[in-house]
Amino acid sequence: MNILLIGSGGREHALAWKMSQSSYINKLYIAPGNAGTSECGVNVDIDICDFDKLKDFALSENIQLIVVGPELPLVNGIYNYFREQNDTSHIEVIGPSSKGAMLEGSKHFAKEFMLRNNIPTASFKTFSIDTLKDGIDFIDQNNPPYVLKADGLASGKGVVICQDKEEAIQILNKMLKDYSDDSAYKEVLIEQFLSGIELSVFIATDGKSYVILPEAKDYKRIGEGDTGLNTGGMGAVSPVPFANEEFMSKIEERIIKPTMQGLINEEIDYKGFIFFGIMNSDGNPYLIEYNCRLGDPETQAILPRINNDIIELFERIAAGTLDEFELSVNPSFAATVILASGGYPKEFQKHFPISFRNKSTPHLVFHAGTSFDEDDKLITNGGRVMAVTSIGEYMKQALDVSYYKIGLISFNNMYFRKDIGQDLLSELQDSMIL
Ligand code: AMP
Ligand code: GLY
Repeated sequence: MNILLIGSGGREHALAWKMSQSSYINKLYIAPGNAGTSECGVNVDIDICDFDKLKDFALSENIQLIVVGPELPLVNGIYNYFREQNDTSHIEVIGPSSKGAMLEGSKHFAKEFMLRNNIPTASFKTFSIDTLKDGIDFIDQNNPPYVLKADGLASGKGVVICQDKEEAIQILNKMLKDYSDDSAYKEVLIEQFLSGIELSVFIATDGKSYVILPEAKDYKRIGEGDTGLNTGGMGAVSPVPFANEEFMSKIEERIIKPTMQGLINEEIDYKGFIFFGIMNSDGNPYLIEYNCRLGDPETQAILPRINNDIIELFERIAAGTLDEFELSVNPSFAATVILASGGYPKEFQKHFPISFRNKSTPHLVFHAGTSFDEDDKLITNGGRVMAVTSIGEYMKQALDVSYYKIGLISFNNMYFRKDIGQDLLSELQDSMIL
């Protein structure tokens, strides 16, 4: 089978790595990919949202399956584009229809969907420029912390949590007035603040059945001890000790099943992944958000724990026979640490050479912002540069190996968090299963 994978981050390198091990694969192409994906298949320089070019390429290379990594092409309708044209409808696309992708593409749509389907989530109100005054009154009448969210896709920058009433009013004004050219900010949600500990839960679905994939905990802030600016994610661990059977079954009953039923009732075509951003508030799960894709860096921690041939999973999603698929998960721990360019998530420099002490790349190092210079030398090319994953029988082992491997990698201004998994280790220490 010839497959086209869309995207260029660490998640896509992990997907490409996993797919390249499949016995079903003939040729794997990645558009546009990164230096790491070029070791798993052939990178093709096509923009992820240039559907006409992707179509020409898919037809000329006899692509049978397209796997979509990031949300943007999904929200822009890549599934419908291929499905609805006679000459491309035979190509299976792993990812939801544009309506399904609205679960991520519009926070207002997602919240209304949660309400219709009785899914526990933070209460909210939505405001636009026409109701700005109501929004200000709403902030005035409520207590901090205030959670303000752009309705649309805002590259991870659309959520602001603030403690101060005046600041919240200022931010609301800014979002609805100053950013009005950006369609993501046409509406702004103000949400109830949920306290607790976060968890990323994933399912693969064919629209009827679903498989729960390994869960992960993501470390979103740039600074140690979860301080500083939000990033795309600075590390991940899987499994997550507090996601025990009891808690996972609450998530399944209260969130996953009603979501699936909602998709079926509302006839939303969904063949792909759903990422549930969960808040564990005193042992009860609340849904913070949906994403219509896998997480990054969570994917780099969960895929190495899956024993199955991933193409078989994709084929079953496409064929609508996921009920016949049995997931096999390695019970070991995976720990992923992101190596970032100093300065990220603000300004940073790139195009620094990357070197490995033993001349070879350690096992399970997934590239994100990397490329080759004109001499074919590996260089940095983004904020998040690489994800270093290790597997261990115990979480501490997995973390220790990842940090050891990081010691073998260097580039100018390399930054990484040294406390990935530390919060969970103390929990494990209490129960003596370090
Ligand atoms: P989102 O883009 O909706 O995932 O929000 C980004 C991050 O903001 C989440 O991962 C949470 O850490 C935080 N967040 C979002 N909504 C809430 C909420 N209602 N209460 C507390 N934290 C939140
Ligand atoms: N790591 C969070 C995300 O992929 O959105």
